[in-house]
Amino acid sequence: MTKESAKQALYDFFKANHCQPVVFKNDRVTIRDIIPAHANKLQSSRFIALDDTLLYANLLANFVKQDTDNRIRKLIDLGAGSSLPTIKINLELDKPRKLRVVCVDSDKDAIETSYKNTKACDLSSHCEFVHNDMLLYLKGLTIREGDVVVSNPPYLPVHDNVDKNLFAPVNGGKNGTACIVPVLTQSFPKGTRLVLRWCSLSNPKKIIKLINENYKVLHLEAFIEGFGFYTSQGCMKDYLKGLLDDAMVYYSVEGNNQRKLISIGCVLEKS
Ligand SMILES: C[S@@+](CC[C@H](N)C(=O)[O-])C[C@H]1O[C@@H](n2cnc3c(N)ncnc32)[C@H](O)[C@@H]1O
Repeated sequence: MTKESAKQALYDFFKANHCQPVVFKNDRVTIRDIIPAHANKLQSSRFIALDDTLLYANLLANFVKQDTDNRIRKLIDLGAGSSLPTIKINLELDKPRKLRVVCVDSDKDAIETSYKNTKACDLSSHCEFVHNDMLLYLKGLTIREGDVVVSNPPYLPVHDNVDKNLFAPVNGGKNGTACIVPVLTQSFPKGTRLVLRWCSLSNPKKIIKLINENYKVLHLEAFIEGFGFYTSQGCMKDYLKGLLDDAMVYYSVEGNNQRKLISIGCVLEKS
C-alpha cells in the first residue's frame, strides 16, 4: 500500500457516492448552534467537541426530514453522550410523530446528562436510558421494523500513553475502529438503516471495505476541518504522524502547519 492510499480510498469512495467534501469551520460551536431555543436549559457531557455533535445533529435531522412516509419509529443511539442530537430531532417533530430514542452510553455521567437534557425539554418519556458498553448492548439487540441504529461513536485512534479519562469519549482504540467495526459487522436484518459518523483518522480503508461489503450507501457527506480539541493534544502528534506514514489515516498539513482531517457522515442500508 502506498502512503497515498488512505486518501485515495477516501476520494474514490466519495466519488462513487457522489459526495463532494466541503470546508467546515469548527471553532466556537456552542449548544446554541445546535438547539437555539432551549440552549440555556441544556448541558454537554464530558465530550466537549460540540462541532462534532452539531454535524451529527444535522446529519440525523436531515435523515429524519426525508422520512416522509413515517417509516422511522425508534432511534437507537449508540454513544449518545448528552443526547443533544436526538433531542433536536424530537423538538422539531410534531407531537404525534415524536420518535422513541434509546440512549446508550458507557459513561454514567453522560447518561445522567442525557436524562436531565431530555427532561428539561419534556422529552424523557420518549426515551430509554441504557448505561452499558455499546458492544455488549449490540449483542443482545433485536432490530424491529422502524428501528434505526444511529451513532457518533468514539472514532479516534488513541495510543496507550494518553490521559485515559480525557480521551474516554473519543477513544476508538489503537486504530480508531474499536466501536465502528463491531457496529458495521453486526448481523442486522437486511434493510436495517444505520446512520454513522467517522473520520479520515478512523482507518478509512478498513471502514470503506466493510461498508462496501455489507451496506448500500444512501447518503454520504464529508467535511474538511482543522484538528480540534482532542486531535490537537500534544500527546497525539507523533502517534498520528506514524499512522499517516503507514497509510492507516489521512490528514493534510497546510502551509502554516495546520492539520486538517475529513469528518464523514453516512446513512447506510444493510444489504
Ligand atoms: C464522540 S462522543 C459522541 C457523543 C454524542 N453522540 C454526540 O454526538 O455529542 C462518543 C460517546 O460514546 C461514549 N462511549 C465511548 N465508548 C463507548 C462504549 N464502548 N460503549 C458505549 N458508549 C461509549 C462516550 O462516553 C461518548 O459519550
